Amino acid sequence: MPETERRLEYSAPGKVILFGEHAVVYGRPALAVPVSQVRATAIIEPSPPGSGLTIVAPQIGKYISPATAPGDEPLSFAARLTLERLHVGEPDAVLTISSTIPVAGGLGSGAAVSTALVRALAAFLGFEPGNAWISELVFEVEKIHHGTPSGIDNTVIAYEQPVYFRRGYPVLRLHAGAPFTLLIADTGIRSLTREVVGYVRRAWEAQRAHYEALFDRIGELAERARNAIEAGDIHALGLLMDENHALLAGLGVSSPELDLLVETARAAGALGAKLSGAGRGGNMVALVEEEAAARVMEALKQAGAVNVIRTQVTR
Ligand code: PMV
Repeated sequence: MPETERRLEYSAPGKVILFGEHAVVYGRPALAVPVSQVRATAIIEPSPPGSGLTIVAPQIGKYISPATAPGDEPLSFAARLTLERLHVGEPDAVLTISSTIPVAGGLGSGAAVSTALVRALAAFLGFEPGNAWISELVFEVEKIHHGTPSGIDNTVIAYEQPVYFRRGYPVLRLHAGAPFTLLIADTGIRSLTREVVGYVRRAWEAQRAHYEALFDRIGELAERARNAIEAGDIHALGLLMDENHALLAGLGVSSPELDLLVETARAAGALGAKLSGAGRGGNMVALVEEEAAARVMEALKQAGAVNVIRTQVTR
């Protein structure tokens, strides 16, 4: 397959989990939507013959040659796996990675970087793999970041559409019956998904029946939320988010900072709010009516949110 001698640019969105985090690792359904306001970008350009592939990530000070990088370095692992699966050798090129998605904040930064990188590298080599192919490859990279990922991050990001996700089942697109607005607020506290997921696993091992019952209840909320989204019933959706937050707190993955932002959003008029992603830090998400958005956003900032993103889920 001939190389294109062009500069190519690909990007992938962040994501926010609306329902079902943690329980999704144990086979329950979850809902997630892409957040296109924050993105990871990969630019690939030809380099002199014989120079091989170099990956540069200036924001994190990385300058890597995939051929010699350690096996668990995620960027080079993603590049090597792409070449292996396409049955091609290393091109002479420079891949530059950048991202506006906060790292370790529950917005899918790792999966977005991998998705942009894989798409750019494949395109440079003349391939245009489908979303399922990309998602599955990124899932392999996610294992380095997360240990035992459910697959929801790579799915919602590679498909870049709202999804109803259940491990081992076909990916279902979620169709919103009416558009709705979300505010995503960052506690500023970085939290490693791998550690929080590991904490939940140890707790589940110690008290299986209790945790299985919590996961069942979270899974039921995700099912009801899917119906509410499809029916365009945002008031019902808000209440379900509140219930999901309470169950996540019961799992032990909330934090005082997350609880404060969740309570602040509700007090300022949000229809519902919950932590999003692994928890213990990172982001929370609030559902708001358009007219309340500015007020809730201001209240979140006053309460200490280091950043607030406003996004809309459309029909
Ligand atoms: O922290 P994030 O956004 O990577 O989300 C993790 C979601 C979990 O359900 C906790 C783990 C997973 O792999 O689904």
